[in-house]
Amino acid sequence: MSSFTPSDKTQAQQEEFFEYLRFSSISTDQRFKGDVDNCADWLVAKFAKMGLSPEKHPTSGHPIVVAKSTPKPDRPTVLIYGHYDVQPVDPLEEWDTPPFEPTVKGDKVFCRGATDNKGQNFAHILGVEEALKKHGELPVNIIFLIEGEEEIGSPNLPKFLEDHADSLKCDICAVSDTGMIAPGIPTMTYGLRGIACLEFTIHGPSLDLHSGVYGGAIANPAQVVAGLVAKLHDETGRVMIPGFYDSVKGLEKWEREMWASLPDGDAATLEETGSQGLWGEQGYTALEQRWGRPTAEVNGIGGGYQGEGSKTVIPREAMAKLSFRLVPDQEPAEILQIANAFLKENCPPSCRIDVELGHSGPSYVMDPHSDYGKAAQRALQQTFDSEPRLIREGGSIPIIQSIKDILHVDSLLLGLALPDCQIHAPNESFTLSNFHAGIQLNRALMEELAG
Ligand code: BES
Ligand code: ZN
Repeated sequence: MSSFTPSDKTQAQQEEFFEYLRFSSISTDQRFKGDVDNCADWLVAKFAKMGLSPEKHPTSGHPIVVAKSTPKPDRPTVLIYGHYDVQPVDPLEEWDTPPFEPTVKGDKVFCRGATDNKGQNFAHILGVEEALKKHGELPVNIIFLIEGEEEIGSPNLPKFLEDHADSLKCDICAVSDTGMIAPGIPTMTYGLRGIACLEFTIHGPSLDLHSGVYGGAIANPAQVVAGLVAKLHDETGRVMIPGFYDSVKGLEKWEREMWASLPDGDAATLEETGSQGLWGEQGYTALEQRWGRPTAEVNGIGGGYQGEGSKTVIPREAMAKLSFRLVPDQEPAEILQIANAFLKENCPPSCRIDVELGHSGPSYVMDPHSDYGKAAQRALQQTFDSEPRLIREGGSIPIIQSIKDILHVDSLLLGLALPDCQIHAPNESFTLSNFHAGIQLNRALMEELAG
């Protein structure tokens, strides 16, 4: 499905999708709180128009939207999870078109949130709408759960699941918020990495100092941050925090073989990233590293003069933001604790370190060969007319393991993101062909899950 000629119906669906995209629903930045809220209202109105019964649940952060079809007792209930919040748009100057004005070029629509996750969850919404219009009812009971805080670690959703476990009771969960390995190749993800975040600040002198007057005698916080960051890995890319690998489960033989049979992942990784070369732990392919091995990453680092030219200063403080991607059976809280201890032990006595622990969420794996897993693969096969590939992903959707723990159901991760869709980066896009394929996928999935 590389191109798509829109009919009046598909044109109308796209227009509605673009309305959804226009909300700048950036969850991490308080300045956008109103836009996030308006986006939730828009979803509620859409669900009401479709004949579902929507509810907007306020939280201490952003609202959660739930919408249900009229339940029929003898049908399985499918929870469809998605998120309407998006990542920030910076660096703004690197966008070719305004980040919240959907712009179509060829088969792609460019907009923040186009793929992650509005396009993917709206495809499910429209699939349900189409089925309702055509048959007046659905083959399964549907509960939509679309949250506004996924990109900040879903801080309020686990408690919401606990408080509403009865009304969210379901047989299986379906989520499109992951990737496809290539256009036209249907992909089912059976595992996600977990995540644990922290930020540390190194405090040195009580004020910025002249680096000539004091340099040499006083520790430079920016250099201390760089030194700590350098200690995180050895030269082969292994994480050096003691205990970091203690509970890491090795990859299974069958998955290494299956991933090795996919199109060359090392070459694709280089091509997609535009990097000069691969890096990382020895003995693992790029796909194994990305999907099945844990990491320590610096997401931000700062301190000292960043402006034009030079300024001879010893900054009084400097900082770094770290995140760790986790695999089964690493525990996020444990990883944060050993990382915290490692940073504190390695901070020289000439400085003071503050470590602020951030959000975290566990990894997830399910059995892709379960009955529901097979049903999902049949739906993918029908939609894309090609054999589904089974992968794990490196990204995280922390709530998926909470859905397992609290609602006791697995999640079918049927992603529609393509490798070049630039999620979280400037010029994010979604292909319209995948948007319309997603609508078909939802309909096929409902039929297959109905049994
Ligand atoms: N959709 C992504 C997760 C994802 C991306 C999974 C690509 C698989 C492939 C999701 O919106 C996301 O970005 N999650 C964050 C979670 C974090 C902020 C808690 C992530 O992975 O960084
Ligand atoms: Zn995301």
